[in-house]
Amino acid sequence: MTAALREGSAASGSSETLDPKDWDEIRALGHRMLDDMIDYVATIRERPVWRPIPEEVRARFRAELPRQPSDLGDVYREFSDFIAPYATGNVHPGFMGWVHGGGTAVGMLAEMLAAGLNANLGGRDHVPVEVERQIVEWTRAMFRLPREASGIFVTGTSMANLMAVLVARTAALGQIVRQHGVGGEGALLTAYTSTAAHGCVAKAMDLAGFGSDALRSVEVDRSHRVDVTALRAQIARDREIGLKPFLVVGSAGTVDIGAIDDLQALNALCREEKLWFHVDGAYGALGVLSPALAPRLAGLESADSIALDFHKWGQVPYDAGFLIVRDGHRHQEAFAAHAGYLRRETRGLAAGSPWPCDLGPDLSRGFRALKTWFTLKAYGTEKLGAMIERTCVLAGYLEARILAEPRLELLAPVQLNIVCFRYRADDAHSDALNGDIVADIQESGISAPSTTVLDGRLAIRAAIVNHRTDVVDIDALVAAVLDFGARRSSGGPVPGAEQSPRPAT
Ligand SMILES: Cc1ncc(COP(=O)(O)O)c(C=O)c1O
Repeated sequence: MTAALREGSAASGSSETLDPKDWDEIRALGHRMLDDMIDYVATIRERPVWRPIPEEVRARFRAELPRQPSDLGDVYREFSDFIAPYATGNVHPGFMGWVHGGGTAVGMLAEMLAAGLNANLGGRDHVPVEVERQIVEWTRAMFRLPREASGIFVTGTSMANLMAVLVARTAALGQIVRQHGVGGEGALLTAYTSTAAHGCVAKAMDLAGFGSDALRSVEVDRSHRVDVTALRAQIARDREIGLKPFLVVGSAGTVDIGAIDDLQALNALCREEKLWFHVDGAYGALGVLSPALAPRLAGLESADSIALDFHKWGQVPYDAGFLIVRDGHRHQEAFAAHAGYLRRETRGLAAGSPWPCDLGPDLSRGFRALKTWFTLKAYGTEKLGAMIERTCVLAGYLEARILAEPRLELLAPVQLNIVCFRYRADDAHSDALNGDIVADIQESGISAPSTTVLDGRLAIRAAIVNHRTDVVDIDALVAAVLDFGARRSSGGPVPGAEQSPRPAT
């Protein structure tokens, strides 16, 4: 060690370390941050759901690379003034756009603890990996899968669906496909899903090298459930022309209207045809926690793989996607790879094989399992199931409000927690009007629905996922749709980006 190195190290602490000089100072600021974030969540109703980003705020995030240190208090002030107020809005009970979970204070605290441990869950022998294995075991039990099942946290269901396609591909072609690629026989592999499936399924086929044309989108019934007879006929036609069907992707909760495919019928078909049966259960799969919803998910327990997100109905803070595979051996075959620098041992820190990196594309991975472990333990599955069920009851309430209001029209049957409707207008203006109503409502800060297109018609879509959403939030949405709809239809003034205060409850 040179004298210079020795001088600035040991007891005095290196001058290059990123640790604070004064731990008490960072402790005090940390406590303030924690208090502020608890207040932020506790008082969320007092603020708009979302606010448009002022140009000067956006401009702050086009700054030069900071070469010199800034005072941490100043950085935190920037966060408080310019980041926190302009977040997505999904913590707020009035957020009903897309399919977003609301998060919890418990999950937030767990994230802080995970960041403190800074564990890398790619592998090795430490308890954070055991926590992830615990979640795999709990998820396995939730879906009544066999002991050989294996699972892994990923960013979200888009990634989990892609990984499921890769597992199904390796199961169909053997591990040799990982060397040779999807040429020859692989070019004939064909997968099946419904026209109501999420777009990430087609993207998964694209990214896996098959191309999205190798995915057949089979028609659905009025309730957006895949037509199993049409699916069977398509498979037969494809076999006749020499294609090789290998995978069926069912939906447990479609993104547009919350339809659940007949999973038992899909499973029977897959067994008969010797196809991999994957279920996209992004948010719907956790419906198994509700005794009222679980029977509608019958067949899920027979799936070869299930993709789901704890960050949606599970309310775990983003992100906490998950893939579970019935046959853990097949799961490993798709991803495990040897490397000398990742040698497995029977003792020491390099023990504990197989490692999570053997089950997915990532080597370095964060501790997503901790916030999920805290959530499952702190609330228990019964309470989570009751919360999930209640979002469906609220969707039923919104449906009833729409059916009772002549100015509104329900556009799809309500099956779970998603309601699609619109403000009535003549067909020529309806799409533009309803698109404006949704943007008006978002900009007002009262509520945040989103839109989708059903049978070529633009729908206002309310996905009730957030555990904080209550009857007052549904009433606020209905009132806002009627109010902005009337103003837009009459050509009267629309407040635009002015924010309306929300009634405190
Ligand atoms: C049915 C369905 N599948 C897949 C996804 C994609 O999930 P993620 O956003 O976690 O990647 C979603 C998202 O809403 C979804 O609803």
